[in-house]
Parts: sequence; structure tokens; C-alpha cells
Amino acid sequence: MAGTKILIVDDKNNIREVLSEILKTEGYDTVMADSGETGLISFREGHPDFILTDMIMKKVSGVDFIREVRKINQTVPIIILTAFGSISSAVEAIKAGADDYMTKPLNYDLLKLKISKILNEKSLEKENSNLRDNLEEKWGLENIIGRSPSMEKMSNLIKAVAPTKSSVLIQGESGTGKELIARSLHSHSPRIGKPYVVVDCSAIPESLIESELFGYEKGAFSGAEVRKKGRIEEAMGGSLFLDEIGELPLACQAKFLRVIQEHHFARVGGNGQVHVDFRLIAATNRNLKEEVARGRFRSDLYYRLNVICIKSPTLKDRKEDIPLLAETFLQEICRENNIASRMLEREELSMLMDYPWPGNVRELKNCIQRYAILGSLPEDIREYAHSRDNSPAGSSLHKNERELVEKALRDEKGNITRAAARLEIGRKALYNRIRRYGLTVPKGTVDSD
Ligand SMILES: Nc1ncnc2c1ncn2[C@@H]1O[C@H](COP(=O)(O)OP(=O)(O)OP(=O)(O)O)[C@@H](O)[C@H]1O
Ligand SMILES: [Mg+2]
Repeated sequence: MAGTKILIVDDKNNIREVLSEILKTEGYDTVMADSGETGLISFREGHPDFILTDMIMKKVSGVDFIREVRKINQTVPIIILTAFGSISSAVEAIKAGADDYMTKPLNYDLLKLKISKILNEKSLEKENSNLRDNLEEKWGLENIIGRSPSMEKMSNLIKAVAPTKSSVLIQGESGTGKELIARSLHSHSPRIGKPYVVVDCSAIPESLIESELFGYEKGAFSGAEVRKKGRIEEAMGGSLFLDEIGELPLACQAKFLRVIQEHHFARVGGNGQVHVDFRLIAATNRNLKEEVARGRFRSDLYYRLNVICIKSPTLKDRKEDIPLLAETFLQEICRENNIASRMLEREELSMLMDYPWPGNVRELKNCIQRYAILGSLPEDIREYAHSRDNSPAGSSLHKNERELVEKALRDEKGNITRAAARLEIGRKALYNRIRRYGLTVPKGTVDSD
């Protein structure tokens, strides 16, 4: 690996020089130190990626040197070089934190091999743990916003089910966050870091779905020039998310059911059995039970899937979450687009609370996006609020409100700030009402506007 810096610690000049030359021809950079003490200084200052140290040195022994290094760094790989036959000290070195040992006289080829192997393992480990951190951060439960009782219940269910191998069926209307739920099931399971494969059954034409799922052998049909792995095979060791499973054609349902029962299958055009190990997560916005009754979904597959069912609640059934969702989206969108952050007016928020949200959280998110950029809520949401205002119940409310606003303005002698405070609404909301009811603001105290 180019750019990898190896620290060589040995009190014998010639050994250091030879090692350094050999490692340089392999493309490594080297730093040398002639004792444990200087080795520690070079380690602190030079941040090497790898350490080779002799065991027997004057004053600080190799083992003590390793102990000191490990106090400040637990991950840098270390190989200790010991005299032939001193296995017990090699064991001691490993206990002190060395990754491996080599006996002298050194077999240089073996040493080179060990170094590259350890470096590879470490970098893979690092990559995996980065990946894991990222995934958890990006796809954890924290991303599912909502504190309503129905969301609390759901998140407890996710936490309980995620670590198991059980199939999960997620049911809920469009835009309620089924994909987020599927993702967080995977990232809270031991399978995190393993593949997470998504198949959107509604997006693949019926004629292609089998080869997409099961893969095919070379020559399975014209155009199949090489063997291709299917999505099921790609999910090996991880999770398979079948989105919109209600759209899966009946013939394919039967074939898929066999896979989950038998844990193996044949690629299209093949006989050999491929073993599979995946955790199945499925989602649908259809009522699968009804689909079963209508003969459009296999009942045996339905029962197999329905072991654990997570229902993602509609937004109108958890309206108390709207302010939190709206504010979070608003801040997020402002930050992403470098827009000065803004807040929703109380009146705007109450429009959002009134609206029935047929498109659920997705619709709310889009609406807030528009608000962040254009500064107003979409027409249909404002119209919905107005149409409610004009209903008979609304008009008496209106009349009441108009009188309240008039009175507040009168009492505060036209001071908008104080009138708004008295009404417990924002100033912008008060202006909106003044405009809506065509009120004139009494002259009195000059407002700072
Ligand atoms: N509880 C939630 N917290 C935060 N964001 C959410 C939540 N629910 C949904 N979203 C967001 O709303 C959008 C739609 O969610 P998602 O795609 O998961 O819905 P879905 O249920 O799969 O819908 P469909 O059935 O149409 O595929 C996404 O941008 C998602 O991030
Ligand atoms: Mg979806």
C-alpha cells in the first residue's frame, strides 16, 4: 500500500537498514528508531501506520515498548521480532498488544506477506465500522420522527423485532414512512453492514420480475449471455426488502414462497440449488387480507409474511406529530439549501393541523419544502382552511374571531405587537386577520412597524 509508513524499532543498525531497504522496495515508507524510547517519540510525532519492533533491546524491551504504544493507540498494527525458540516471550508480546510475532532469522517474504495481510484486515475493519456508523446514523430509528402514542408503540415494536430473524410485513398508506421503517429494521439488526437489497415489485415489469429476483444461468433465454445473480442471492447474509409486495404476480408469489420455506432455489434456466440466507422485510400499501379474499394474493404467502406486522399510522391519525415533523423538515430544508432558517406562524401551523394529508408525511414534507423556498403554503392547503372557515360552523367562529381581533386592536390602541400578544398569536398572523376581515387599525400609539 503506497503511502503506508512503517516504524522500525531495533537497536542493531544493520538489521534496521536491511528491513528498511526491503520494505521500501515494496513501496512502503519507513522511519527508524534505535531504542524503545526513541521509538515512542517517533510514534508520537510521526503517526506511523505500522510498527515492527525487536524484542530484546537495552533499557526498554520490545514488550514494554508495545505496552506504552498501546496506552496511546489501540489499533496501530504491531509485529514483534523475537529470537528463535523464545515462544514464551512471543506470547507475552501478544498479550501486551502485538498483532503477531516473527522469529529470527527473518523470512522476509513471510514478513512482507504478514504486513500486507494485517494492513488489509485493518483497513477492512475500519471501512466496515465507518460504514456501520454511517448506516446507524443515517438509518436509525431516530430518523423516524414522531412522539405520538402510535409512533411510540411502533418504535418499541421495531426495537423488539429488529434483532430477530423473523419476517416482517409493513402495512400502511402511501407516504407513511414504510421505507424508513424497513431500513431501520435492517440497521438495528445484527445484519447491519451486510447487504440491504431493495426490490420494488411495482417498478419491475411482470415479464422480468423472475429473473430479477432469482437471477439466471447463461443461455437461460436469448440474451442471457452470462450467468447473473438475482436480488435474492445478492441479499445473502443481509436483508431483502420487497417493497409493494402486493404487486408481485401470483406465479412469482408461489416461487418466492418456496424460497422462504426451503431456503434454496434455482436460477432461471438452471437446476442447481442455490442456498440462501436473508431476512425478509416486505411492505405494501394495499390491504393484503382483502387481496387474499379477492384471490389476488396467495393466502399461504400472506400468513408466512404476517408473522409480525408493523402498521405505519397515517398522518391524520397522529396529528399531534405535525408540528414536530413540520419544524424538523423546515430546519433541515433551510440548512440543506442555505436558506435563512424560518419558523412557521401559528396560523400556518394550524392550517397544517387541520388539513387531512391524504399523501401523509411525504405530502407534508413536499409542502414544507415549498414553504421554505417560496415562503407560503401550497394553494390547496390554504384553500382547504378557507373552505372550512366559510362553512356554517366556521362563520360563527369567524364572527367571533373578528370581534376578538377588533377588540384587541381597540384596547391596545392599534399597537400591533401588544394586540398580537393579547390574542396570543404572531404579528404576521394578526396582519393576516386584519387583511382577511378588512379591519382598519385604530390610530393611537405608533407601532414600531
Ligand atoms: N415518521 C417519519 N419521520 C420522518 N420522515 C418521514 C416519516 N415518515 C415518512 N417520512 C418521509 O416521507 C417520505 C415518504 O416516506 P416513505 O417513502 O418511507 O413512504 P412509503 O410508506 O414507503 O410510501 P409509498 O407507499 O408511497 O412507497 C420520505 O421522504 C420519508 O423520509
Ligand atoms: Mg415506499
